[in-house]
Amino acid sequence: MPSTDAFDLSGRVALVTGGSRGIGLAIGAALAEAGARVALAARHEEEVQAAAAQLRAGGAEAQGFAANVSKAPDIEALVPAVEAAFGPIAILVNNAATNVHFGPLLDADDGMWLKMVETNLLSAVRLCRLVVPGMRARRSGKIINMASVAGIQPGVAQGVYGALKAALIQLTKSLAQELGPDNIQVNAIAPGLIETRFAQVLHQTPVIRQSVERATPLGRIGKPDEIAGAALYLASPASDFTTGAVLVVDGGMTLGSFAMPQ
Ligand SMILES: NC(=O)c1ccc[n+]([C@@H]2O[C@H](COP(=O)([O-])OP(=O)(O)OC[C@H]3O[C@@H](n4cnc5c(N)ncnc54)[C@H](OP(=O)(O)O)[C@@H]3O)[C@@H](O)[C@H]2O)c1
Repeated sequence: MPSTDAFDLSGRVALVTGGSRGIGLAIGAALAEAGARVALAARHEEEVQAAAAQLRAGGAEAQGFAANVSKAPDIEALVPAVEAAFGPIAILVNNAATNVHFGPLLDADDGMWLKMVETNLLSAVRLCRLVVPGMRARRSGKIINMASVAGIQPGVAQGVYGALKAALIQLTKSLAQELGPDNIQVNAIAPGLIETRFAQVLHQTPVIRQSVERATPLGRIGKPDEIAGAALYLASPASDFTTGAVLVVDGGMTLGSFAMPQ
């Protein structure tokens, strides 16, 4: 059994993109509770500042940063701003994502693809380019990429989103290989359906929600806090021998055919 100290993040600096609400905010709260200094990044200044203030009200050291991760200049400004406020980034959580096309894959135009590539995939690469050199020099770092079960098996009307989550999973594995010798762990989390604004169209459409619940051995969809524990593990010394892993947190939905008795 690892000691509880294995989950202690005192003195570590974490950057969580998409940290103003939903899964990102739940992760920020969990990392802060474990002692990390937490930087939350999102596009809307007011919302991200309110999220950081919420963490500070609970005793955490947290700051909000307005940044659009689909824009290279925003990322180039974000990393030095976080490091100036808190010190070197030890934990990078690439969580921000968008889905601008819910429908048949071939109906998505190039503009939609490019927007999603920049936000959901290239942002992680750009952030890693800036954060990894410091991690390498310190021979220590944790990178967590927020994938999805849609990146493991296709989800209806989520072809573009799923292809990019699959790419993020492969990126995670390649980086894990390349950065392992520098003692940097790179892992992904693949959530199932989680009750957030992002997934509103899914969990607020009764027929979709019920079919997901029926296909899920645990019989329900998840809450953002239920992803935070997985992120805490992957951010902490408890996961020092874990790299290139995809931690599926989906209530068992992807295990195979399953239906709750009617
Ligand atoms: N909810 C689910 O069922 C589910 C399932 C599997 C995977 N995921 C993944 O979980 C992650 C978080 O999603 P969520 O469900 O927590 O969504 P959410 O509650 O809607 O939160 C999304 C966060 O990302 C930020 N964001 C969006 N676009 C951004 C951009 N271009 N630059 C910076 N920040 C941006 C949003 O703030 P602003 O709008 O202010 O920028 C917000 O903080 C995503 O990677 C998503 O693909 C979600």
